[in-house]
Amino acid sequence: MIYLDNAATTFPKPEVVYKTMDTFYRTLGANPGRSGHRMAVAAEKEIEDTRNVVARLFGIKDSRRLILTFNATDAINMGIKGLLKPGDHAITTFLEHNAVSRALNGLEKKKMITVTKVRNSPEGLVDPDDVKNAITSKTRLLVMTHAPNVLGTIQPIREIGRIARKNDIIFMVDAAQAAGVCEISVDDYSIDMLAFTGHKGPLGPTGTGGLYVGERLTLEPWREGGTGFEPASLSQPAELPFKLESGTPNTVGIAGLRAGVEYVLSTGIDTIRAHEQRLTNKIIHAFKDDQRFVLYGTTDISQKVGILSINVKGFKPAEVGAILDQSFDIAVRPGLHCAPFAHQMMRTFPDGTVRISPGFFNTEEDVDQIIRALDKIASERI
Ligand code: ALA
Repeated sequence: MIYLDNAATTFPKPEVVYKTMDTFYRTLGANPGRSGHRMAVAAEKEIEDTRNVVARLFGIKDSRRLILTFNATDAINMGIKGLLKPGDHAITTFLEHNAVSRALNGLEKKKMITVTKVRNSPEGLVDPDDVKNAITSKTRLLVMTHAPNVLGTIQPIREIGRIARKNDIIFMVDAAQAAGVCEISVDDYSIDMLAFTGHKGPLGPTGTGGLYVGERLTLEPWREGGTGFEPASLSQPAELPFKLESGTPNTVGIAGLRAGVEYVLSTGIDTIRAHEQRLTNKIIHAFKDDQRFVLYGTTDISQKVGILSINVKGFKPAEVGAILDQSFDIAVRPGLHCAPFAHQMMRTFPDGTVRISPGFFNTEEDVDQIIRALDKIASERI
């Protein structure tokens, strides 16, 4: 199969990820930080090593502020629900994944908070001035994607972060599609909370991710329980990361995440992004002036990560996805991509688009094959 669905999850992983996980689980599969025996202590060390490596990826100085979670959705819920209080106002965008939209909508429906959604340009970019204009005296949180999963447009995070900081607003970034392919520095971008998943750009396994919690805020835990720390107390410990990390962690996944992030750091984020952009650009150039296709968002590859939303005129996206899968053995993601508002803005709701997302292990030949397949599909309908 030609796998071009890396925005859903990267596949395959670097060989070292598989090997690390296999070795870890065969030799260090104890419950970390709990029992005190040598294998438990070694498993705990593996987790702390991962925390330090991931902290390096995002320029996080104090790795205790990096909470390991099960994915980006877990991190986003932890951040939004742990921060917002009754009466707060939050700003977000139409480009968000449901992890953000639903978490905010749930609080809004309970009449706990109010929410303003900032629009984006047809290219898929949010204007920092629009963000500035949405701020009220009640605004506590600005939460937005670094690169939306439908269009991949790299947002002006640095500028927007400055606006948030100047107005004393907590700035939360959903880096699900940017981590591992875009340079991110929490300090340079004035980021107070950074949510990411391990199984996409960081090239780790599913069930891993994290939330950076900056010094300007305190989060209430949305999951309480055993931490292996202060077990006699009925209250959740106040110290990070324990406060927000209850329950047995995904140790084998965390070991794999470290291997994935080390692979990314040694290969180079720019090298990985450049490869994915080059492959995506080849598909853009094949179809951007072809009347049988509609391409969404900017076609300037320097403004986006390796994600392309496209439709074949006369076909539903789900139909194209099924033909690619069944007749050409090519995997893509058609539909709404759990981001219905983005598709409303693009006027592709409710059917969505066909999303093609090359990864670091795809080749020129892989994209040549999808170009030939889409050309054939479009020709046959005419
Ligand atoms: N959020 C993932 C995607 O965009 C699953 O496909």
